[in-house]
Amino acid sequence: MTTTYTLEHRLPADYFTEALRSDAFKGLTAQPKTLPPTWFYDARGSELFEQITELPEYYPTRAEHAILTAHAAEIAAATGARTLVELGSGSSQKTRLLLDALRAGGTLRGYVPVDVSESALREAAAALNLAYPELEVRALVADLHQHLGLADAPGPRLLAFLGSTIGNLLPADRAVFYARVAAELAPGDALLLGTDLVKDPATLVAAYDDSAGVTAEFNKNVLSVLNHGLDADFDPEDFQHVALWDPELERIEMRLRATHPLSVKVRELDLVVPFEQGEELRTETSAKFRAEGVRSELEQAGLTLKHWWTDPAGRFALSLAFPAE
Ligand code: SAH
Ligand code: AVI
Repeated sequence: MTTTYTLEHRLPADYFTEALRSDAFKGLTAQPKTLPPTWFYDARGSELFEQITELPEYYPTRAEHAILTAHAAEIAAATGARTLVELGSGSSQKTRLLLDALRAGGTLRGYVPVDVSESALREAAAALNLAYPELEVRALVADLHQHLGLADAPGPRLLAFLGSTIGNLLPADRAVFYARVAAELAPGDALLLGTDLVKDPATLVAAYDDSAGVTAEFNKNVLSVLNHGLDADFDPEDFQHVALWDPELERIEMRLRATHPLSVKVRELDLVVPFEQGEELRTETSAKFRAEGVRSELEQAGLTLKHWWTDPAGRFALSLAFPAE
């Protein structure tokens, strides 16, 4: 079989050095210490995320899968998309439901998965190539804060951002993101957005602190990314995985808490980072949403929400929005 997918690099050549250096320097010298969640996803991090999606406690993937199963045909009919562009596509597993529906609708020609994780993209594109030999797959290794993958994609385009990865952006960054989406979508294009919903804190915390410890390993993986990328000497054993629900900001926070006083050398930054006992490094925020919040954030950017679907238990939502006319 001939390979018909392409994989293009759109990250700046120095992304894994310069962007990591600047994020790590800023975050590790800040008070409290933080890191952006994008750095979880080296090959090991992408693999661990896939394991998370199969955990009994991590309901979002199954809930979104159920919504797509129920409504993919409606999404295909409402958009008539010729190109499906997907941000943070990872393994593209759930995407198959959309690809099947758009193919059955007779409109689909191309798929553009966009992800920072080259390993995840390569695996996904190769598998899709076997399952959908007629589909033009153009994978982009890119940062979604810089590229939306829409350039050169024939319309109508459906821009999918699934998994509630939007919740890993802080509110100000979400506003910037939606404004870019609104500016780049043409009339007839659409945005399909997955959002995890506010629910009881016990369910939420369990989803981020599973009994098998996979999420703890995923969280600590960011330390190994810093060790490899910046010649640092973090010992994951020195840190405890923490998942907290913030009821005011309505978000889960993942943190790494130092179990004793210690200092870490980050040789590439010429930096020594002290941690007091109990001091925390925030590694991720995962906002949980309500219908009115999603609608109003989209509207402020000039995107009109036309459909809102949830799974039967009301845990997760998919929105279909269009640029305002
Ligand atoms: N959409 C999939 C995967 C979600 S995991 C699902 O719903 O299961 C989040 C994905 O976003 C990962 O594949 C990760 O590599 C990617 N990602 C994280 N930050 C990114 C960024 N800044 N730009 C592009 N992709 C990013
Ligand atoms: C990718 N993102 C939406 C996941 C989330 O639920 O915030 C990442 C994750 N973090 C811990 N578990 C999964």
